[in-house]
Amino acid sequence: MAAVTQKLEDKVAIVTGGASGIGEATARLFAQHGARAVVIADIQEERGRAVAESIPLQICTFVQCDVSDENQVKAMVDWTVHKYGQLDIMFSNAGTVGNSGQKIIDLDLSEFDRVMRVNARGMAACVKHAARAMVEKRVRGSIICTGSIGASRGGPWRTDYIMSKHAVLGLMRSASRQLGEYGIRVNSISPSAVMTPLMTKAEPETSMKILKMYGPLTSLKGITLNVKHLADAALFLASDDSAFVSGHDLLVDGGLISVPDPKSSL
Ligand SMILES: NC(=O)c1ccc[n+]([C@@H]2O[C@H](COP(=O)([O-])OP(=O)(O)OC[C@H]3O[C@@H](n4cnc5c(N)ncnc54)[C@H](O)[C@@H]3O)[C@@H](O)[C@H]2O)c1
Repeated sequence: MAAVTQKLEDKVAIVTGGASGIGEATARLFAQHGARAVVIADIQEERGRAVAESIPLQICTFVQCDVSDENQVKAMVDWTVHKYGQLDIMFSNAGTVGNSGQKIIDLDLSEFDRVMRVNARGMAACVKHAARAMVEKRVRGSIICTGSIGASRGGPWRTDYIMSKHAVLGLMRSASRQLGEYGIRVNSISPSAVMTPLMTKAEPETSMKILKMYGPLTSLKGITLNVKHLADAALFLASDDSAFVSGHDLLVDGGLISVPDPKSSL
């Protein structure tokens, strides 16, 4: 059955990190809601192409892009505007985690650099070039960044990742103040833990246990966070349903009370 409400009718959207997880679910939802074009920008070529081809009506296109390389981001945004005429929505969502626990005592600074390059620098490049494209075409667009619950509190591990997500919030807040005069809204979504390749990649067993540990620490009971909940949040911020919302970090965490300590019950 077709979607009853087409919240993104005629909009052109870019979803970074759209080959997998939260980005993939969001690309699918944007297409269901009438987007004219959805561009998936990701480093995973095979998977990204497969996702794009599986979305009906040839609405979706894959563009290979490493967000940590500003030239690639600019080329990807320019390509989108050239092909579709304008850019209405940037969901800057691509992200990565370190390959180890990254507690401060053992912090591997080359891993730190890699995580910051993607999560902080890459996010800034995406917001910058989306904003330039929107300003140039006089589009009152929506830019959405993916943060994390770790962006507003410290954590028991993944110091570099949490630092990078604090940077995302700083970027979102600054960009929202600077772009408001052009009618461009900038917001972020901050998920708690959700089962995606990113969550399971670093230390799969530990990640599974951490996911289970979130249950008792969430005010809301009887429901587990999934990627559709996050796609719904992105749709809200992308559409006119949030027409007067800017500079806001939307926590999608079921009322999380505290973050589990991976050491406490592992
Ligand atoms: N899964 C969670 O528990 C969780 C919690 C909080 C925040 N997040 C954030 O959600 C976002 C999406 O992650 P996910 O959980 O869907 O994981 P995921 O691994 O399913 O998706 C991340 C995507 O980003 C892409 N990517 C990684 N580096 C890239 C780069 N340099 N350039 C372009 N694309 C790149 C990957 O190829 C992948 O397709 C990330 O920003 C992540 O930090 C996830």
